Amino acid sequence: MGKRAVPDPSGKKPDAGRARKQIADRADRISYYESLLQKLQSIVSGDAAASETLFAAREIADALGAYYGSDDWKQDFAADEAGMLPHDLRRGVLSEDGIYNALEAYGEWIREPSCKGEVKMRKVLFINGSPNENGCTAAAMDEMIRELNENGVETELLWLGKKAVPDCMACYQCISAGKCVFNDEVNAIGGRMDEFDGIVVGSPVYYGGPNGRLTSFLDRLFFSVPGDRFEGKLAASIVSCRRGGASAAFERLNQYFLMSNMHVVGSQYWNQIHGSSAEEAKQDAEGLQTMRTLAKNMAWLLKAMEAGEQAGLERPALEEKTLTNFIR
Ligand SMILES: Cc1cc2nc3c(=O)[nH]c(=O)nc-3n(C[C@H](O)[C@H](O)[C@H](O)COP(=O)(O)O)c2cc1C
Repeated sequence: MGKRAVPDPSGKKPDAGRARKQIADRADRISYYESLLQKLQSIVSGDAAASETLFAAREIADALGAYYGSDDWKQDFAADEAGMLPHDLRRGVLSEDGIYNALEAYGEWIREPSCKGEVKMRKVLFINGSPNENGCTAAAMDEMIRELNENGVETELLWLGKKAVPDCMACYQCISAGKCVFNDEVNAIGGRMDEFDGIVVGSPVYYGGPNGRLTSFLDRLFFSVPGDRFEGKLAASIVSCRRGGASAAFERLNQYFLMSNMHVVGSQYWNQIHGSSAEEAKQDAEGLQTMRTLAKNMAWLLKAMEAGEQAGLERPALEEKTLTNFIR
């Protein structure tokens, strides 16, 4: 048998206070999304202040899209229809046309090249040196790529394949030619460095170091591309191994970045994942989390760089490089 209701001495319905609070919470939520809607409309219509960025627009559109697809929106809409909301509440976000049209307008705006004119789209290049296209290194990179994309950063993946990559033969021709004598993917991607704001390189661990394919590629890339093309970009290396040698391989790969005026991004642990197959690597919860954290940190730094540029912060003018020869 159910409990008998106890009469309320105040004479009020027992849940009247709770209902009032629910309406107040609802009104706060609607006001919040209403302010986001107005901000998005001002960015899309070109009225936004210069500090409004592509990232801000993406974040707002994502938040509004999630609200529009949620039960919260349906319940807020129903409350409005039932006349339960305060009269003075602005609620364009609750009108089907209001939110739908704003998101449509955002979709059109983001596809226009002009929206990216003032605000450069940030892009990170991933270079996977593993011969296994869908192996452990790829699983780690996928985790980062997903996180970066969710944070509004574009990505491009270059898998080096299974074929041997020519090694640097120290001919020094690239110093004058600006490109390598072996005309392969090194020159193709080297000529596109200006497109990227960050680079992530990944390798399986072979005998406690990165694999030869990747180091051959990177030796030639970093030697043949003029050094200033790497300056100021973000960089990270990630390694995968069954059991040991990860930190030695990780340190080895970071050497490319640390003498190229790049900014090496850290995570909650050294960037490593463990396994002999992608299935195993995907069970390494800590390794995956390390990748997501790395990507989050990278996305945040890219946004910080964006904000700095918008505010007129310039990169330091570097001195002409001095080479000290220890023999003379
Ligand atoms: C030639 C060779 C050497 C290896 N050396 C190591 C090693 O030193 N330490 C280790 O833990 N795993 C070692 N492994 C295993 C791989 O590093 C490991 O399975 C890695 O996660 C594979 O990544 P992938 O699937 O992206 O290729 C070696 C594998 C090969 C083929």
